[in-house]
Amino acid sequence: MSTMLEVSGLNHRYGAGEKAHVAVNDLSFTVETGQLASIVGPSGCGKSTLLRCIAGLVKPTSGRVSLHGDDVSGVPEDLAVVFQDYSRSLFPWLSVAKNVEFPLRWRNLSRSERRTRAQEALESVGLSGVGSKFPWQLSGGMQQRVSIARALASRPALLLMDEPFASVDAQTRFELEDLTRRVQRENGSTVLVVTHDIDESVYLSDRVLVLSKSPATIVADLPVGLPAERNQITTRESAEFVTLRGEVARLLHGGAPEAVTAAADAAEYELAQQDAAADSAEAEARTKS
Ligand SMILES: Nc1ncnc2c1ncn2[C@@H]1O[C@H](COP(=O)(O)OP(=O)(O)O)[C@@H](O)[C@H]1O
Ligand SMILES: [Mg+2]
Repeated sequence: MSTMLEVSGLNHRYGAGEKAHVAVNDLSFTVETGQLASIVGPSGCGKSTLLRCIAGLVKPTSGRVSLHGDDVSGVPEDLAVVFQDYSRSLFPWLSVAKNVEFPLRWRNLSRSERRTRAQEALESVGLSGVGSKFPWQLSGGMQQRVSIARALASRPALLLMDEPFASVDAQTRFELEDLTRRVQRENGSTVLVVTHDIDESVYLSDRVLVLSKSPATIVADLPVGLPAERNQITTRESAEFVTLRGEVARLLHGGAPEAVTAAADAAEYELAQQDAAADSAEAEARTKS
C-alpha cells in the first residue's frame, strides 16, 4: 500500500504572545491509500484545525503535510472537504446539479463532461432525481448528500470530512455513515473523517486515531478489525464493536493505556509497601510481647 497522506511534527498556534493558543501539538501520522480512517477527539481539541492544515486552508505554525509525496502549501487540486454545516456550504441560488458541478469549473473539462460527472456523483449518493431542485427544497440529510456528491464529483485523491453528520438526525446519520462506507469502497477512495462521536469513529472506519484534550496530540492509533460489511444493528451489538468503543472511551477519558497501567502499578506497589510495613510492625509487636 502506498502512503496518501503524511503529517509530520504538525503544530498550530493561534495568535501570539500571552493570548497565544496552541491548538495542535506535534502531530504525526500517515494514512495509506484506500484507507478510511477516523479521528476522534473531544470538542475544541483541535480537530478542525488539523483538517484545515491538511486541506491547505491554514498554514501550520510548524511541521509538514504531504499528499502522495507532494508538500501541501495551498489547497491541493485533488483534495475535497465535506463540512458539518451543509446549509452554509451549498449555494442557495444554484440548483443541486449546478452546486455539484461548481468546483469542476476550474478543471479542464468540457461542459458535457462536467454534467455527466455531476449526474454520476448524484446517482452514487441516491439523489439522481433532484438535480434541478434548489438546496433549500431538500431535507438536511439530502443537502449533506449533495455536499458529499459535490466532493466526489472532483474524484479527490483524499476526501476530508469534518463532523459531516453532526447536524442531522440519528436515523439520517446512520444512512449517511453507510453511504460513506459504500461510496468509499466502490471508489477505493482514501477518506479521513473527523468526529467527536466514539461509536461513529468505530463504525465508520478501518482505523481510529484518538486525540487528547486541547492541544491535540495522538493518544492511540487503533486498527478496527470489524468485517467490511457492516450493519447498524448487528455490528453495533457485536462483542468486537463493544470492546473497541469501550477502549476508545477509556482512552478519551483516562489517557493512554500505558499511563493507566503505570498508575495502577504504582498504586498496587504502594499498597504492597503498606502491607509489608504493617506485617513487619505486627511481627515486631508479636516478638516484643
Ligand atoms: N481562528 C481561530 N482563532 C483563534 N482560536 C481558534 C481559531 N479556530 C479555533 N480556535 C481555537 O482552537 C481550539 C481548537 O479548535 P478546533 O480546531 O475548532 O477544535 P475542534 O474541531 O476539535 O472542536 C479551540 O480552543 C478554538 O477556540
Ligand atoms: Mg471542529
